[in-house]
Order: sequence, then structure tokens, then C-alpha cells
Amino acid sequence: MGTDNVLLETLYKNPHFDNMTLKRVKAICPIHGEYETFSRTNPDGTEYVGRCPECQRIESIEQQESCRVNIADSNIISDRLLAAGVPEEYAGLTFETLPPGLLANGDLITSCIELCDKKANNLVMLGTTGVGKTSLSCAILSRILQNRQGDYWPSVCYTTEARLLRAMKSTFGRREGPTEQDIINQMGRYDVLVIDEIGKAPASDYNVAALEEIINMRYITRRTVICGNISGEDLKRHFTDGLRSKLAYNSRMKDIIDKDHRRTI
Ligand SMILES: Nc1ncnc2c1ncn2[C@@H]1O[C@H](COP(=O)(O)OP(=O)(O)OP(=O)(O)O)[C@@H](O)[C@H]1O
Ligand SMILES: [Mg+2]
Ligand SMILES: [Zn+2]
Repeated sequence: MGTDNVLLETLYKNPHFDNMTLKRVKAICPIHGEYETFSRTNPDGTEYVGRCPECQRIESIEQQESCRVNIADSNIISDRLLAAGVPEEYAGLTFETLPPGLLANGDLITSCIELCDKKANNLVMLGTTGVGKTSLSCAILSRILQNRQGDYWPSVCYTTEARLLRAMKSTFGRREGPTEQDIINQMGRYDVLVIDEIGKAPASDYNVAALEEIINMRYITRRTVICGNISGEDLKRHFTDGLRSKLAYNSRMKDIIDKDHRRTI
């Protein structure tokens, strides 16, 4: 639990505290998904919603790092990747530890490295299940953190299309906390953003417009990786022409054709 959640939990349990104004609620973070927190109605009628505990954790990591000596860089990187939303089973991946079969796809790896080295701004990886899309996108984030310059840590984020859209929609009608525009701005600013599992969320007008706004902010000056288990044709239907044209800016488009490496039966 993040610090303000702990504080609110303590208040909640205090019999002298007027907990009529404090409610346990579920909120959605665009990076880390659903979390439990408290909301409090202030005397002026506005509502405060507790922040995502993982987001608070990433803020404290930077402070802790300045005190941590002799901690392997790889541990710091996987910690940062976890806090950036990378699923636990992918947070320790690097290009050095990817399965040799995946590394053998030289053209694909070259495109990934070009994005890491800022030779490409946008990378779209499509392919059926278990062909290594998520593994590659997480190895990309790891390499970018590994190759950081000096003390500057590039800001990175891993999310899925569905999670992002859910987080944006959860702001509708809320009077306090981040607005939909705040989430768009936040996603627009990351140095490197991975949006995984594109195409699982329905391509409604709202969804497409929201994604287009994020990509608009990013496509020339930042790096974005889009992955999805859909065909190129489905991607065309999923995005508008404008969105596809922006994603094509200094981009690499990869169709990964392979078997499902997850499946053993
Ligand atoms: N070419 C490969 N050789 C060996 N193992 C691989 C290869 N590609 C992927 N894998 C393994 O397959 C598993 C699934 O990989 P990953 O989750 O990256 O796939 P994905 O394309 O994101 O799948 P999904 O579309 O279901 O999300 C991982 O354990 C990964 O190490
Ligand atoms: Mg995946
Ligand atoms: Zn969060």
C-alpha cells in the first residue's frame, strides 16, 4: 500500500474519525491497472481518490537509489521496469537472456535495437500468440534503461490498450483525481511507451480518438512500441488512417510469423 493509502486505512479504522466521508473504492491506474484505495468527500463536496500504490512506489525508488550502493544495475533496472508496469515474469528480460530462437530472427532484432538506439521512433510488432512480442518489448525497455546517459533515467511505461482505455474511462464524471486529459498528457510524455495487446479492446470512436491523441503527441519526438495479436488488415480497421500514417513515421513494422512457443501440448 502506498503511504497515503496507509494513512487513510489508519483513519478509516479510527473509531473517532468520521468515516462516513471515507469510502473504500476501486480505482484504475493507466499503468498498473485496478487498485483498492479510499475516496474521501471533502467538506466542500470535492472528492479525493487515493493514488495508485505502485506509482507511489516508483517515486520512492529514485529516493532509495541515491542511498543504495553495491546494488547490481540489473536489479535496479528490473525494479524500475516493474514499477513502469512491466509484468513480473518479463521484468528480468534482456536481449542477452531472450530465447536463442527469438534472437535468431535477425531482422526483427535489428528493428528492436534501432528503436533502442533512437534510429526509429515507432515500432509495430504483430503476430499470433506466443511469438515473443511482449518479451521483445520488455527487453527493449530494459536495454534503453541499461544504455541511459549519465544520471538521466529515460521515463518508460508498459501498458495494454485495454488497461489504458479503462483508466481513461474511469475518470468520467469524477470530480477529483487525474482527468482523462491528464492521462493523455502523461502517456504523451513518456520517453518510451509500450502499448501491448492492441486490438483486444473494441475499436469504438472514443477508443480510436483517445489513442490518436496520445500518438499525436509522441510520434516525432518520442519512441512508441505497439504490439498486438492481430493481422495487418485488422490493425487497419482498428486505427484511423491518420493514426496509421503517424505510426508509420520513422517506423519499423514487423509481422512475426512463428509457432506458439508458450504451448507445450
Ligand atoms: N522464438 C522463440 N523461441 C523460443 N521461445 C520463445 C520464442 N518466442 C517466444 N518464446 C517464448 O514464448 C513465451 C511467450 O512469449 P511472449 O509472451 O513474449 O509472446 P507474445 O507474442 O507476447 O504472446 P501473446 O500474443 O499471447 O501476448 C515466452 O516464454 C517466450 O520466452
Ligand atoms: Mg504478449
Ligand atoms: Zn500506477
